[in-house]
Amino acid sequence: MNRFLNSKWTKLAVFLVCLVPLANLIWRALHQDLTPNPIEFITHRTGDWTLRFVILTLAITPLRKLPRLGPLIRFRRMLGLFAFFYACLHFGTWIGLDKFFDWAEMWKDVQKRRFITVGFTGFILLIPLAITSTAGWIRRLGGRRWQLLHRAIYLTAMAAVIHYYWLVKSDVRKPLQYASLVGILLAWRLGAWLVARRQRRSGGRVERNEPTTAEMA
Ligand code: HEM
Repeated sequence: MNRFLNSKWTKLAVFLVCLVPLANLIWRALHQDLTPNPIEFITHRTGDWTLRFVILTLAITPLRKLPRLGPLIRFRRMLGLFAFFYACLHFGTWIGLDKFFDWAEMWKDVQKRRFITVGFTGFILLIPLAITSTAGWIRRLGGRRWQLLHRAIYLTAMAAVIHYYWLVKSDVRKPLQYASLVGILLAWRLGAWLVARRQRRSGGRVERNEPTTAEMA
């Protein structure tokens, strides 16, 4: 398993798989198969994939604690950047196709429609994380500060599920399923933090639970 996860081919394969949702959208566009409401279809698809990638990125930290799954950490930065990539497509669809670059109208929407306000907040929070995802930024910020900043992904995840919950009109099952996944991941993180704090107080050795990107390459 370790050899498989450490292989550069596996990383390439994961990269290509992450592009499948985009390829599917392009394929459907070329075949005029984007449903009668293509803008809505693209908005929903890109929104769904943004949220899935945010959750996958968060899931890496607990999963890599399982036996033989340590090297999964090599994929975390890539998954996080794909979350940002799909968020840009999602936001870009809204800006260009839905609002036709009408900045005044968009600003009104951000202020007035609560699901847009919270989605926008989630997106804004992702920007510094994408910018500082490089080894150079980890050096500049220092591991501790970098980790603190990158916890903002939990805020993005919470903003995203609220965004989804608020935008659906009746059937809230899907947003609630995503919310439970985010809740489990948050609870795990809180538990890990409490255990580490107890160990620190009792003077024991504390296992660092989050290597930085530099350690992932
Ligand atoms: C991290 C940021 C974001 C995430 C994870 C996210 C996620 C989602 C999800 C999961 C959906 C529903 C997809 C479905 O129904 O299958 C959605 C819909 C939507 N999102 Fe976002 N979103 C984000 C940011 C934004 C931003 C910044 C905007 C615009 C300012 C936006 C505008 C919309 C719109 C207009 C819809 C469709 C609403 C409708 O059908 O009435 N989202 N988003």
